[in-house]
Amino acid sequence: KRLILIGPPGSGKGTQSPMIKDDYCLCHLATGDMLRAAVAAKTPLGIKAKEAMDKGELVSDDLVVGIIDEAMKKPSCQKGFILDGFPRTVVQAQKLDEMLEKQGTKIDKVLNFAIDDSILEERITGRWIHPSSGRTYHTKFAPPKVPGLDDVGSFIWTDALPDPSIFITYANEALAQLAKVEALGLECPGSRLTMCRSLSFIVTGEPLIQRKDDTPAVLKSRLEAFHRQTEPVIDYYGSKGILANLPAEKPPKEVTSEVQKVLSS
Ligand code: AP5
Ligand code: ZN
Ligand code: ZN
Repeated sequence: KRLILIGPPGSGKGTQSPMIKDDYCLCHLATGDMLRAAVAAKTPLGIKAKEAMDKGELVSDDLVVGIIDEAMKKPSCQKGFILDGFPRTVVQAQKLDEMLEKQGTKIDKVLNFAIDDSILEERITGRWIHPSSGRTYHTKFAPPKVPGLDDVGSFIWTDALPDPSIFITYANEALAQLAKVEALGLECPGSRLTMCRSLSFIVTGEPLIQRKDDTPAVLKSRLEAFHRQTEPVIDYYGSKGILANLPAEKPPKEVTSEVQKVLSS
């Protein structure tokens, strides 16, 4: 499958991507993640992108089209991909169509994470990220699990953790396994129970970080960019008949089942 996830900041694109990726064996191409990596590594691309990103404005079409063109050539993307945060302008959408046409392929579905702006500030300011895995948490909606917990399926939040920047996090691999078990709504079956349980207790002690653009002020300009430059992209795909609207204000698991419904129909 070739999918596009479109929606405002905090609508849940990054949260739903791992589930979709695992269910359909797709590669996950998030232009925001790729740009942040380039900024951190101070590559020529990162140096060009940084100013716009810090202000919550869009990076130039040529830059992002270039990274996507390159990234889509990876062998792991040949079976299909999830584009998360691209295209964000009608020009990007047209360029993407041209690229795919050359390969004799096309986009199958565009998932529109529809949500009211008023919900997004709380989501964005409460977001904490585990840098090495990219996994995302939320102080209120998706708190990290803490050791001492028996039940793999439940969340626990404790005031005993004094400072959110030292949230205890789990080894990447363990976390990925665990997230998959949860996403599928499965209980750890029989003999694997012990393994699942022990996985949930691996602690890395690595700190979680917040994104520099996750402030109320920068969110405001990111939302402006979304309404002005990205909403027309939704209409672009609507007129092609491949748009599916998701109720993105629902809890994460309900959004996941809506996604599964859309993709299996
Ligand atoms: P990018 O990284 O793409 O940021 P964004 O679009 O603003 O989206 P976010 O990552 O903030 O939101 P998300 O939908 O992934 O939310 P998440 O799932 O994490 O872009 C950053 C910048 O890069 C841009 O501003 C621009 O400068 C540049 N850029 C990138 N692509 C570009 C392009 N194509 N062209 C030009 N410039 C580009 O969820 C957020 C929080 O909410 C988390 O804490 C999560 O746990 C929680 N949460 C998620 N779902 C739920 C739910 N259902 N209920 C409750 N809480 C939830
Ligand atoms: Zn994201
Ligand atoms: Zn609007």
